[in-house]
Amino acid sequence: TKPPIRVAVTGAAGNIGYALLFRIASGEMLGKDQPVILQLLEIPTEGAQKALKGVAMELEDCAFPLLQDMVLTDDANVAFKDVNWALLVGSKPRGPGMERADLLKDNGKIFIAQGKAIDAVAADNARIAVVGNPCNTNVMIAANQAKRLPRNRFTAMVRLDENRGRAQLAKKAGVSINEVSELFIYGNHSPTMFADFTHAKIGGKAVTDVITDRAWLENEYLPTVGKRGAAIIDARGQSSAASAANALIDHVRDLATPGAVHSVAVDSEGRYGFAEGVWAGMPVRSTADGYEVITSYEMDDFAKSKIKITNDELVGERETVKDMLG
Ligand code: NAI
Repeated sequence: TKPPIRVAVTGAAGNIGYALLFRIASGEMLGKDQPVILQLLEIPTEGAQKALKGVAMELEDCAFPLLQDMVLTDDANVAFKDVNWALLVGSKPRGPGMERADLLKDNGKIFIAQGKAIDAVAADNARIAVVGNPCNTNVMIAANQAKRLPRNRFTAMVRLDENRGRAQLAKKAGVSINEVSELFIYGNHSPTMFADFTHAKIGGKAVTDVITDRAWLENEYLPTVGKRGAAIIDARGQSSAASAANALIDHVRDLATPGAVHSVAVDSEGRYGFAEGVWAGMPVRSTADGYEVITSYEMDDFAKSKIKITNDELVGERETVKDMLG
């Protein structure tokens, strides 16, 4: 049998955690023959630690053959010790009347501390996936703490947006989701994101040839994908959790599968017109130990104008947290 992979999950007693941990432990993320050790971090309050224990009790009660061990802690240095994957889900939600700048800064503090701890104690091959919002800026802050681990180990999740975008195209065209390919998300995980329908395909044909109503694509499709998170909160009274956990499973599984092509928020390195040093969604192809950005898509003026909007937002977020970038 294979040696176990250590997976840290922060915010493990939260909503996404509850939809995520059981699927990791059952082998859906890293393979049905891959033992895992879960290292679960929660804040030190009695309520959170007690809820975490409850989740761990349920994990135990599943008798998952692949779940070799669990660590429950409120200490980042314990949670990230020797981990191969760190899934940073926990973050502080926006409270009533709270400004976006305060949210960015409050969360920034969490990601400074966690970035430092990961760099100090995680395994040499550690990879980090940030879900906690604002995830593009949080991952940038964490990555800037790293002295040992290279920046390309740090990614943030735009896969939920890709999955949402594919589903909406399939629904409009009346085809199976499997017919939709090459739909990639550019930029920020926020309503400014650009779901690039201009290069996406349905049944191998350009989306724009299958869905010829350009006004629908620009004025209905893009806002529907961009504001889907808010629509879920409106309908459910809670933010998306099962679909977010599912997207994280997809994000990690595909990063661990050489050849997989998918949308990931990565260090832009100035690609596709994004500012150097911001983390932006773009298409990547997974490699044996990381990813390479797919740089071959030519953007037309419309796509460039959309990328500019989401890039401006990312640059603005970076400006707000510039004192936190080390
Ligand atoms: P939640 O509020 O149910 O759970 C978050 C958990 O994180 C709580 O249990 C909290 O105690 C914990 N936490 C807070 N600060 C922490 C810290 N410093 N260390 C460890 N744990 C900490 O929230 P939910 O629904 O699970 O969502 C988690 C995050 O994921 C939110 O920031 C949300 O905005 C984000 N999200 C991101 C998506 C994406 O596509 N990137 C999609 C959906 C949600």
